[in-house]
Amino acid sequence: MKRLLIFASGSGSNAENIIGFFQKSNTIKVVHVLTNNKNAKVIERAKRLNISNLIFNKIDLFDTNKILNFLKKEADYIILAGFLWKIPPKIIAAFPNKIINIHPALLPKYGGKGMYGMHIHRAVIAQNEKETGITIHFVNKNYDEGAIIFQKSVQIDAKDTATDVANKIHKLEMTYFPKVIEKVILNENG
Ligand code: GAR
Repeated sequence: MKRLLIFASGSGSNAENIIGFFQKSNTIKVVHVLTNNKNAKVIERAKRLNISNLIFNKIDLFDTNKILNFLKKEADYIILAGFLWKIPPKIIAAFPNKIINIHPALLPKYGGKGMYGMHIHRAVIAQNEKETGITIHFVNKNYDEGAIIFQKSVQIDAKDTATDVANKIHKLEMTYFPKVIEKVILNENG
């Protein structure tokens, strides 16, 4: 069994979708959800699905090895599903090509610090983009710059609001994120 650990900061719809997808798998399972936000809705979702959750703070992640040691013991792969802090270099070094992030835009466009969630969709509309999409990529030490695994685009219609774009992106995320994670893991492990 390959063990996935999910980092999420907010609602956790991707986390829930990934947990559900791998509940049917014989080879991959989600073992924990970690969050930096004690009010995140992802905590309720994890509880409902019988997945343990761990709330941590900046000291746990950056200044001590508490989270690093936990990950080394518990995880084969780390999934970032709406996680808003930068992953520290010590964790990236311990999990080379084992940390996978989803970004709700077609990187390298609309990436980098401050570019998350609705901020991205509003920027995309403001720039009159004709398309947007999702990028699934490995995490390296530069924000949103790791090797791209998968991208899928979607058309933006003239009348679309940022909320409409968010809904289109959400659909792509629900459809593709678990499948792409599965493919990466199965390819690497025969
Ligand atoms: C998702 O759209 C994800 O792509 C995005 O946050 C949302 C989380 O939704 N991630 C980023 O913007 C990372 N820069 P969720 O909590 O419902 O899964």
